[in-house]
Amino acid sequence: MKRTKIILDCDPGHDDALALTMAAASNRIELLAVTTSAGNQTPDKTLNNALRMLMLLNATDVPVASGNQRPLMRHLKIADYVHGETGLDGAELPAPSFEPQDCGAVELIAKVLKAQAEPITLVVTGPMTNIALFLRVHPELEDKIKQIVFMGGAAGQGNVMPTTEFNMAVDPEAAKIVINEGIPLVMAGLNVTLKAQIRPDDLEHIKAINNPVAQAIAGQMDFYGEWYGQDKFGLAGTPVHDPCTIAYLLKPEIFEAHNAYIDVETQGSLTAGETVVDFTGLMEKDNNAKVLMNLDRVQFIEMIIELLHKFD
Ligand code: RIB
Ligand code: CA
Repeated sequence: MKRTKIILDCDPGHDDALALTMAAASNRIELLAVTTSAGNQTPDKTLNNALRMLMLLNATDVPVASGNQRPLMRHLKIADYVHGETGLDGAELPAPSFEPQDCGAVELIAKVLKAQAEPITLVVTGPMTNIALFLRVHPELEDKIKQIVFMGGAAGQGNVMPTTEFNMAVDPEAAKIVINEGIPLVMAGLNVTLKAQIRPDDLEHIKAINNPVAQAIAGQMDFYGEWYGQDKFGLAGTPVHDPCTIAYLLKPEIFEAHNAYIDVETQGSLTAGETVVDFTGLMEKDNNAKVLMNLDRVQFIEMIIELLHKFD
């Protein structure tokens, strides 16, 4: 079976960690490399979390490299209020016994792409700083990128400001570079990811899976759910944003996708990082993205549980 080759650029982060787990578990995905960005936590912590998760997943053969230490233009604003002091609170993880590569994220992405005969998929689940830098340092390798599947943005309601989502808001300038590069995009924005909820009965199911990976994910989801369980959100469960990218690669048919032209606002004092999503051609631009707007949540959860059982 032909496996989908990916590089995962992420800022683990609880939902990044679940996306990483799904990618590592699936026999239909070949995880070529993991690069980490500053976002949910500081870059040292997101790197450490990626290493610790790959240890847990017994995937220490996957090369890892850290990237941006801060956004291109702005000061780093982290989401420790969601992900905790470590950036991945809620479960004891093994200390990493393997080292990251002795190059940065940009060069690891370049090294991996150079070695590919066919274009591959970039999956981005954090701020886009590393990818923007890569595109500016190695434009000659853009033809090795088949598509960018990213968690970020929203057509409408944001989660850090009324119209801005965290990943885009951390580094709007990087997002604008990536979104405008002309590489085919799949956007998993808040419109779909807020519906991608792990509900209490789903979490009980995960807690009943008797393997170290599922138990760690369960503990992490317990912690992560404390933020999203607040009455102000009015959610029936805990939204796991980043796993929507991997789930789309594995079962695109469980998602409702709409073609659109998307761009990113960088100038607004209240809207920097807003993804402007044009579904109806008002901007007279050719569509550049598939925007995921809905999903079959039950099949999404079934996929997560099936993949967690791979570690039995
Ligand atoms: O807005 C949600 C996104 O921001 C997710 O990728 C989460 O991990 C954080 O990075
Ligand atoms: Ca993330």
